[in-house]
Amino acid sequence: MAPPPNYDQSKLRNNPKAMMDIIDYHVNNIQRLMIFSQRKLDATEKVLAKLDPKPKVLVELGGYVGKSALAWATMLQKFQQNSQGNVSEVKVFSMELEPDFVKIIRGFADISGLSGTLEVMEGGSGDSLKRLKAEKGIEHIDVLFLDH
Ligand SMILES: C[S@@+](CC[C@H](N)C(=O)[O-])C[C@H]1O[C@@H](n2cnc3c(N)ncnc32)[C@H](O)[C@@H]1O
Repeated sequence: MAPPPNYDQSKLRNNPKAMMDIIDYHVNNIQRLMIFSQRKLDATEKVLAKLDPKPKVLVELGGYVGKSALAWATMLQKFQQNSQGNVSEVKVFSMELEPDFVKIIRGFADISGLSGTLEVMEGGSGDSLKRLKAEKGIEHIDVLFLDH
């Protein structure tokens, strides 16, 4: 079994990779969680990296505890980073039905320093998709990830 992760919040702050490692630890060693695996995320990253222009807005339907949402936010930031290390604006909208999961994703995004990039929308995806245009002014989505 892999060694237990470091839960010290000071080690997790602004460190999405450490937060994602904790989720993976629970998935692999404690409880089977219904998440998109790191292997699939890595494969998807290779596909998205080939898009031209690189994606800036990603919407996922089904956030659960935020593993894929944190991964998408990190990926999109990486794609848009220039040689000086500056990142142009990217946005991930994670739509989640269950209020408790919404709180978990928001908490993880905050600790990881991704709350400016990752926005969680509470409610059914159908309603949230309508709100995306009406309330957030989003007219264009580059990537749609369906994972209910
Ligand atoms: C497979 S999990 C998502 C896993 C997540 N994408 C990941 O890989 O880390 C599916 C999630 O979809 C949510 N869900 C189910 N029906 C939904 C709906 N109609 N609208 C929004 N979320 C929904 C569930 O509550 C659950 O948290």
